[in-house]
Amino acid sequence: MSTLVTFFSAEGTTKAVAEEFAKKAGADLFEIVPTEPYTKADINYLNPLSRCNKEQIGKKDVPTVGVVNDFAKYDTVYVGFPIWYAAAPRVVYSFCQKYNWQGKKVYAFATSGGSGIGKTAEKLEEYVKGAASVEAKLVHNAGEIENW
Ligand SMILES: Cc1cc2nc3c(=O)[nH]c(=O)nc-3n(C[C@H](O)[C@H](O)[C@H](O)COP(=O)(O)O)c2cc1C
Repeated sequence: MSTLVTFFSAEGTTKAVAEEFAKKAGADLFEIVPTEPYTKADINYLNPLSRCNKEQIGKKDVPTVGVVNDFAKYDTVYVGFPIWYAAAPRVVYSFCQKYNWQGKKVYAFATSGGSGIGKTAEKLEEYVKGAASVEAKLVHNAGEIENW
């Protein structure tokens, strides 16, 4: 019975929440890092030709660095990320596809610029096939994850 907290954060907001929650929960922590790190220009969604827009429109795979050791031992996995385009960033999907989620409880927590959680859980389900449950929640601090 182990808990893993994974997260992707482009600008640091989700990272701070994930780190505080993992510490409080005594959980292992794994940062989802794209093989090619995002620059400021890459995540400028106001530019139609920016990397983030191309990845989103092209439904691209976004390769990530490293692997979680012994992923099988975790029965509960928290996945944190910023809301991008009203759901999880594609890099999170690419990360999730590397693992076997059979029977795991998945808690997706997200920070946002104002959007709600929308259909984030439903969209994530496709990439965590076999999970026992998938829930998603918009959060502003670690306490909101503790009180899930
Ligand atoms: C490419 C991109 C797309 C975004 N799309 C949304 C969105 O659809 N809705 C929203 O409320 N915020 C959106 N945001 C804002 C982020 O969700 C918000 O700033 C988040 O807290 C950033 O987390 P981070 O610091 O961990 O990267 C977007 C930000 C980026 C860079």
